[in-house]
Amino acid sequence: MAAPKFVGEVEWPVTIQLGKGLEGAITCHSRIGYVDGEKGWLVYRGYNIFDLAEHSTYEETAYLLLFGKLPTQKELDDFKGKLLGYRKIPQEVIDTLKSLPKDCHPMAALRTGISVLGCKDTKADEVTVENDTEIAIKLISQMATVAAAIARIRKGQEPVEPDPSLDHTANFLYMALGEKPNDLMIKVMDISMILHADHGMNASTFTCMVVNSSLSDLYSSVCAGVGSLKGPLHGGANERALAEMLPLKDEEEAVEYVRDAIAKKKKIMGFGHRVYKAYDPRAKVLGKYSQEVTERMGMPHLFKIARKVEEEVIAAYGERGIFPNVDFYSGTIYYALGIEVPLFTPIFAVSRVAGWVARVLEYLPENRIFRPRAVYVGDMEKEYVPIDQR
Ligand code: ACO
Repeated sequence: MAAPKFVGEVEWPVTIQLGKGLEGAITCHSRIGYVDGEKGWLVYRGYNIFDLAEHSTYEETAYLLLFGKLPTQKELDDFKGKLLGYRKIPQEVIDTLKSLPKDCHPMAALRTGISVLGCKDTKADEVTVENDTEIAIKLISQMATVAAAIARIRKGQEPVEPDPSLDHTANFLYMALGEKPNDLMIKVMDISMILHADHGMNASTFTCMVVNSSLSDLYSSVCAGVGSLKGPLHGGANERALAEMLPLKDEEEAVEYVRDAIAKKKKIMGFGHRVYKAYDPRAKVLGKYSQEVTERMGMPHLFKIARKVEEEVIAAYGERGIFPNVDFYSGTIYYALGIEVPLFTPIFAVSRVAGWVARVLEYLPENRIFRPRAVYVGDMEKEYVPIDQR
């Protein structure tokens, strides 16, 4: 059959700009954050990520993303008070998490826990900016409790009750690890949480926005975001990057690992980015802390191996704009802090939820359902053949 000339409103064949994976597509305006891939810049609400990592806290950064300004002391205290008030999660969530298979991936468990949170919220379906702002704060607070409970339950331990004397990140570490974290752990984890809080129209953020654009409830949107972040091409790369580096004994093996991957045309986890063609600023900050933390925790070889992997990858692919991304060094830090590998991506989600909900809330007042199209290149005008004649 000859190719059809017209398919719907799209002339075919016709010259169109089809960005595979929506590359280059613009979805909406935003004042929340900006990624300059050429310069290697990341900005939240006008503030450079390097300044926020050095001077801010995760709670303050979450407030900034949600409300568009740095809070006054009173505003921050009120916000922290709300986060604190929401920390405890319903027993049904804990019971559901306990009922899951022991080898269930923590991101699947997190998605399930959030779903139960939504089922328990009688106002989940009241989709207004005011109500969703409250749910957003609740989710920022409670996702940390759910992720920490998952960390305990998968090891056959009881979840730890939140400690109201600790700030958000410190309490999260306490609930996940079952012991009070030291100052270094709190500082480095808080910086990592700030760096992961938002990042433009990435796959998980866009997923949340697409789901919410049908005016679905915020829990459903965030569940979908968790599902998207789980994949190894997105947030799941932090687990894979570390898992691939752990068996390497020294820098020589690091070189072999990279050369082998290049020869086999395998993607090297923790490298490359759709937007950054320069060094990811988040990896810059995390690389510095990876060196400090691995040395302080008696694992300097881990950083040396990671640096060697980086050098080899950049030597091979740097000219093509392939550099370490945020997922490359985060794993080395978490591992040195004593956090289990399967929890790396849930930690990412516990942080990124701030960006997800901020962007969903920003879009809500001017909401229009997302509905792209595909260029149809299949057959047309086929004759239906009854089943006994096929
Ligand atoms: N290792 C080796 N080659 C790579 C890598 C890598 N990590 N990343 C990209 N390339 C190569 C591809 O093989 C491809 O080469 P080709 O043109 O010869 O076929 C080219 O660079 C373009 O790669 P795409 O996958 O088309 O780039 P895209 O923009 O679609 O993907 C992505 C970006 C998914 C991040 C990619 O770089 C990748 O898969 N990286 C590894 C996984 C990873 O680290 N993900 C985390 C990203 S950060 C985050 O999501 C939080």
